[in-house]
Amino acid sequence: MSRIYALANQKGGVGKTTTAINVAACLAEAGVGVLLVDFDPQANATTGLGFRPPRGRSTYDLLHGSTMRDIIVETSIPGLHLAPAHPDLAAAAVELPDRDDRERLLGAALATVGDEYPYVLVDCPPSLGMLTLNALAAANRLIVPVQCEYFALEGLAQLLETVELIRARVNPQLALTGLLLTMHDGRTRLSADVAREVRSHFGPKVFSSVIPRSIRLAEAPSHGQPISRYDPRSSGADAYVRVALEVVERG
Ligand SMILES: Nc1ncnc2c1ncn2[C@@H]1O[C@H](COP(=O)(O)OP(=O)(O)OP(=O)(O)O)[C@@H](O)[C@H]1O
Ligand SMILES: [Mg+2]
Repeated sequence: MSRIYALANQKGGVGKTTTAINVAACLAEAGVGVLLVDFDPQANATTGLGFRPPRGRSTYDLLHGSTMRDIIVETSIPGLHLAPAHPDLAAAAVELPDRDDRERLLGAALATVGDEYPYVLVDCPPSLGMLTLNALAAANRLIVPVQCEYFALEGLAQLLETVELIRARVNPQLALTGLLLTMHDGRTRLSADVAREVRSHFGPKVFSSVIPRSIRLAEAPSHGQPISRYDPRSSGADAYVRVALEVVERG
């Protein structure tokens, strides 16, 4: 069975997309087939890999009869395929609630590509709305990026409560793989304090690897490349290789 990861945190700008792109690229470069599903109307994972899908060829079209296979594109990284998003996906918030398959749409779409991809990563928008619920209903694993800033813990309790609800009602398979500390700035006490606090709350559920704050990581998407291509010798590239290894090891 494929490992399907939702990258979720309703807090915005915490590193969900950066983590989705770079972990997906590292896994593909290690030789496993990966499907990255962009399920955010901002389409940052899509543009960050150098794509702009035309109307009719994005995850939005899964709502209107397209299959996963219809929309998947190959990326410049061998083994990494992308189901791109289009800003039209914003309409899903309005359209999905009226449908019988409202939380199951993404899961059903993924089932049609079956075991072709050992790893599937779903990049979620910054909310606990219908799109994130679909991702949590489709996934069997969850990665929660947590930015090393004040208020980092805020919202985590609500996110984990939502996960419990989904497990109880829709998807008992869903398990928390881990929380990932992102944008860690080794020079500040704040980063160290937040990292300590998150570890004291969540213990071994926190990835041992930490993603440093790195300008190279922030630049890479404007070149349509993962960090492993844009600057493979950077600290950010190194950190994401470690995280990808941990993702594999955590099972
Ligand atoms: N480790 C990092 N160091 C420096 N900048 C980073 C790092 N990780 C992400 N960024 C930058 O921070 C911003 C937010 O990151 P990202 O888009 O990955 O977060 P997100 O959680 O997906 O945001 P959203 O909630 O809007 O989807 C982006 O401009 C990104 O390039
Ligand atoms: Mg994002």
